[in-house]
Amino acid sequence: MSQATKGLEGVVAAQSKLGKVDGANGKLWYCGYPIEVLAEKSTFEEVAFLLLKQRLPSSAELEDLKGYIARNRPLTMTEIDILHKIPSDSDTMSVLRTMVSFVGHTDPDAEKEGSDYDYRKALRLIGKITSIITSWERIRNGQEPVSPKATLSTAGNILYMLRGTEPKKEEVKILDIMLILHAEHGLNASTFAARVATATLSDLYSAVTAAVGTLKGRLHGGANARVMEMLIAIGSEENAEAFVSKAFENHEKVMGMGHRVYKVTDPRAEILVGLAKEFIGADNKFLNIAYKVRDATHARKPNLYPNVDFFSGSIYYYMGIPLDLYTALFAQARVSGWAAHSIEQRENNRLIRPLAEYIGELDKPWIPIEDRK
Ligand SMILES: CC(C)(COP(=O)(O)OP(=O)(O)OC[C@H]1O[C@@H](n2cnc3c(N)ncnc32)[C@H](O)[C@@H]1OP(=O)(O)O)[C@@H](O)C(=O)NCCC(=O)NCCS
Repeated sequence: MSQATKGLEGVVAAQSKLGKVDGANGKLWYCGYPIEVLAEKSTFEEVAFLLLKQRLPSSAELEDLKGYIARNRPLTMTEIDILHKIPSDSDTMSVLRTMVSFVGHTDPDAEKEGSDYDYRKALRLIGKITSIITSWERIRNGQEPVSPKATLSTAGNILYMLRGTEPKKEEVKILDIMLILHAEHGLNASTFAARVATATLSDLYSAVTAAVGTLKGRLHGGANARVMEMLIAIGSEENAEAFVSKAFENHEKVMGMGHRVYKVTDPRAEILVGLAKEFIGADNKFLNIAYKVRDATHARKPNLYPNVDFFSGSIYYYMGIPLDLYTALFAQARVSGWAAHSIEQRENNRLIRPLAEYIGELDKPWIPIEDRK
């Protein structure tokens, strides 16, 4: 009988005051505040402060935070030059991984340790990531990057810098809520990667680089774009049942369905489906396909529910955001959670070093190279 817990399922590997994920009841809190309340009343910037400092900001503190992000949002000439040098067919998450690592070089405080430094590095990353994603999209399409506007929020700048025109207030509000919903989620794979890197006393840029590389995978952040690809491939409501049936026959995962922790519902998906209906309209081709896919999957495995990625793609698609930016937008939000976990880990650190159950042979006879087949 194996002692190893495959996928570390059920293993408690840290104590945290950041995100509480209640899988049995489908609930989520950030620092004690229910996600529904934050989605309704807060902003992404306020939530970033909440996570990084584990309390809500005063008005002055929130203004300081916004100002710091705004001042750090523009890319330097060197950073823009690096984006030009990356092959234009590169994967956006790989570009983000490289650039997060690179902007560490342009921070004179990169190697300085302590919560105050990490707080400022986190805000710098929030700002830089907006410019990296939007400038990358423009540069690879032969367009000039758009300079950020200090008066716009993170969500506002994402849309403004992608398009070069002022976004509508309603779009900015929806995108802001999406950033809130993606900001933190307990010890998910990318956050765990960030904590493992931090626990070696490496720096925040290294921790976030590890996290971006981990979020890239299609079982984690990469699922949102795959959901949209799936909906486009299905093409019409009538094809949904056959698509799901074939996926189950071939033992393939239906993207955006299921979750390691949530076994009743993902509260973020509940909020997103409401937003999608409100923003896109109740009768939309891709939403209608999504409902059919959800129902057909749920009918086959009743504990499979839509996760956060299931409806987010439809909203980004409706905003005209290219598919391969979806996971990078997830990173834009989650960098606040990664940094918050990194700060929490550093404040009460112990090297994270589990064991592997060795299942190979021992004491094998050495064969000289000339005798090997
Ligand atoms: C999220 C996910 C990785 C969780 O994985 P996990 O906890 O390791 O769950 P498992 O892969 O062990 O799945 C348990 C069972 O449900 C099935 N299952 C899980 N997710 C499924 C899905 N999306 N579609 C079809 N079947 C699924 C598995 O095939 C397995 O069935 P079995 O017991 O008959 O073999 C998984 O649900 C998945 O791959 N979903 C699609 C990708 C996705 O949306 N990721 C974003 C997560 S926020």
